[in-house]
Amino acid sequence: MQSIDQAGTFKLGGRTVKRIGYGAMQLAGPGVFGPPRDREAALAVLREAVAAGVDHIDTSDFYGPHVTNQLIREALAPYPRDLAIVTKIGARRGEDGSWLPAYEAGQLEQAVHDNLRNLGVAAIEVVNLRIMFSIHGPAEGSIAAPLKVLADLQRQGLVRHIGLSNVTAAQVEEGRDMVEIVCVQNQYNLAHRDDDPLVHALAEDGIAYVPFFPLGGFSPLQSATLSDVATRLTATPMQVALAWLLQRAPNILLIPGTSSVAHLHENLEAGSLVLPPEEVAALDGIA
Ligand SMILES: NC(=O)c1ccc[n+]([C@@H]2O[C@H](COP(=O)([O-])OP(=O)(O)OC[C@H]3O[C@@H](n4cnc5c(N)ncnc54)[C@H](OP(=O)(O)O)[C@@H]3O)[C@@H](O)[C@H]2O)c1
Repeated sequence: MQSIDQAGTFKLGGRTVKRIGYGAMQLAGPGVFGPPRDREAALAVLREAVAAGVDHIDTSDFYGPHVTNQLIREALAPYPRDLAIVTKIGARRGEDGSWLPAYEAGQLEQAVHDNLRNLGVAAIEVVNLRIMFSIHGPAEGSIAAPLKVLADLQRQGLVRHIGLSNVTAAQVEEGRDMVEIVCVQNQYNLAHRDDDPLVHALAEDGIAYVPFFPLGGFSPLQSATLSDVATRLTATPMQVALAWLLQRAPNILLIPGTSSVAHLHENLEAGSLVLPPEEVAALDGIA
């Protein structure tokens, strides 16, 4: 059995996907802005991901902007039937590459149409409403108004399933009172564990939790403990960080981002890495 298959599967909206997927954000240019330095290399990563068994790709039309979705379409369309492409709306890019909120009804509608056009699909499998009430992470406040717009787009058949991103537990509850929420995508990794209670609450309700920055994001995780565990298990620190997430809760779906085919394979191989309890205890201490 391939490593990616050893990690198992979990429900994501109307499908069951493998627990290791791929996050496409790293494919745009520096700062997730503009075209990639090496377009062929970016296309190769996407093709290799699907060839290696990935059936869940996370993206957004504000990566680039537009660039990442256009790369996905060029590399992979016509898409394999079992490929779930998940996008997010709720932000836009300034001319200087800044990340700006974009929750007005017209902006959200435009964002869904931009994703449809650039991905070349008639409906999007899952759209995450990405909340940005604070630049420091999730912040309280009602999400009802933008979520209602997304729910209307779902009723029109443009969006199959809805998720939430960068949200608090209270916002997840508010959202679930309005529509079916199939996944939550928040920052979570070995060193950033604020969402521990939310991960487990969602697991009990069978809702996928998709950590962003699973490897630490723009500054990948570095820890002597992590390196020591990796050495003992003859693995790399990044593989250990991913294996820790897989063992943390059954509803965690991974979307590690990379612009490198070698790193892609390394990350998929984390699916066959089993962490013994004493190593999990050491890793738990990092946060
Ligand atoms: N909802 C949100 O607000 C939000 C925010 C951020 C990200 N996301 C999503 O989450 C996905 C994952 O996040 P991310 O890509 O920002 O961060 P990440 O997966 O935590 O880490 C990506 C970084 O790790 C490096 N890397 C990947 N595999 C590696 C390996 N095996 N060895 C060494 N370095 C490795 C990458 O560099 P190389 O390219 O050199 O491999 C890149 O610098 C994104 O692609 C995006 O889809 C969502």
